[in-house]
Amino acid sequence: MSEKRIDDVTGTETTGHNWDGIEELNNPLPRWWLWTFYACILFSVVYTIFFPAWPLVSGATQGVLGWSTRGEVARDIAQIDEGQQQYREGLLAVDVHMIRDNEELQNYAVQAGAALFRNNCSQCHGSGAAGAVGYPNLLDDDWLWGGRIEDIAYTIRHGIRNEEDPDARFSQMPAFGEMLTEGEIAGLARHVQSLPDGTDPLSGPAGQLFADNCATCHGDDAQGDPEIGAPDLTDAIWLYGSDIASLEDTISRGPFGVMPPWGERLGEANVRSLAAYVHQLGGGEAGEPRSETNVEEQIGEGDVPEGAGPTGGDPSDPDQVPFPEEASGTD
Ligand code: HEC
Ligand code: HEC
Repeated sequence: MSEKRIDDVTGTETTGHNWDGIEELNNPLPRWWLWTFYACILFSVVYTIFFPAWPLVSGATQGVLGWSTRGEVARDIAQIDEGQQQYREGLLAVDVHMIRDNEELQNYAVQAGAALFRNNCSQCHGSGAAGAVGYPNLLDDDWLWGGRIEDIAYTIRHGIRNEEDPDARFSQMPAFGEMLTEGEIAGLARHVQSLPDGTDPLSGPAGQLFADNCATCHGDDAQGDPEIGAPDLTDAIWLYGSDIASLEDTISRGPFGVMPPWGERLGEANVRSLAAYVHQLGGGEAGEPRSETNVEEQIGEGDVPEGAGPTGGDPSDPDQVPFPEEASGTD
């Protein structure tokens, strides 16, 4: 360490620091640097006045502009929603089975439907819609309640055997455990199991039992009835399992699959998006709606393009669009 002194060459004072004879000049800070430094201080003061800055016990100072990242996101969502509004109106303006005729509308519906499906349906039907025991596979062309897009929309809108929606699809297979003997049920289980192999549903003693107890709903040909959600028993697709124990159990207790209604919760435009999505998964059937009830439902709602239909949902309500980021296809 040496003393501060005036450097001979530059005539500038040294700081007194000395490393092996190399000394440091005490030059003043460059003016540009100093002004930048002052500007930063000024900027930070102004910033803390206008924007959220100082942490407090709960929260932080808000800033006089009232800006927040949350507000920013809300604005973005509102913007996306506005962009979607034309599609949502378009979905409500046409008959459900005509959505497909408009490529742009169909694309929107399928994308939005896929996002809605992930959020609302995958916990029961599986993220790929392949279903599980008791929860039908929506990828195949085997439909309990009809596979035309109007049938699917009705199922989604009102659900199945639930207590919330008076228009829910409903039917009830009796619990035959209380009506038939164990032997009869065992015989029926074996009989039903053999139906996909081409056994005549009405042949033999089990066939007689089938004719007396089962054919009213499942049909003399055992091919079921989509009007009442009675499954086709000849197609080797089983909702509740095809081993003898499962079949005996199914016949004894009478299955009662419940699906919640979505019309009120999601709004009609979202229901239609979901129907378009499910319909194009692979098993959708073409053509006009199958059942009379669905036709009435359809005409009733097609007449009210600006509203969300009798279910009361409001498609312009941003709260009912929980998925705008996903619907824009970033996922
Ligand atoms: C709580 C579980 C659950 C949720 C959530 C659920 N479903 Fe279902 N869904 C079911 C059950 C159970 C059935 C079969 C009912 C039966 O046995 O008739 C079903 C049947 C269906 C059917 C009729 C299939 C056929 O073969 O006719 C469609 C279509 C359908 N669901 C679509 C959806 C869509 C779309 C969503 C999301 C908005 C959804 N489901 C959410 C349980 C659920
Ligand atoms: C009142 C109408 C009705 C009658 C009568 C009826 N069923 Fe059913 N059956 C249904 C319905 C509806 C379902 C579907 C229930 C569900 O999805 O939860 C069903 C489901 C089944 C299943 C399950 C199919 C699968 O994919 O897993 C079997 C097996 C079955 N029925 C056998 C019978 C037999 C055998 C009889 C006669 C002893 C019978 N049913 C009588 C309406 C009926």
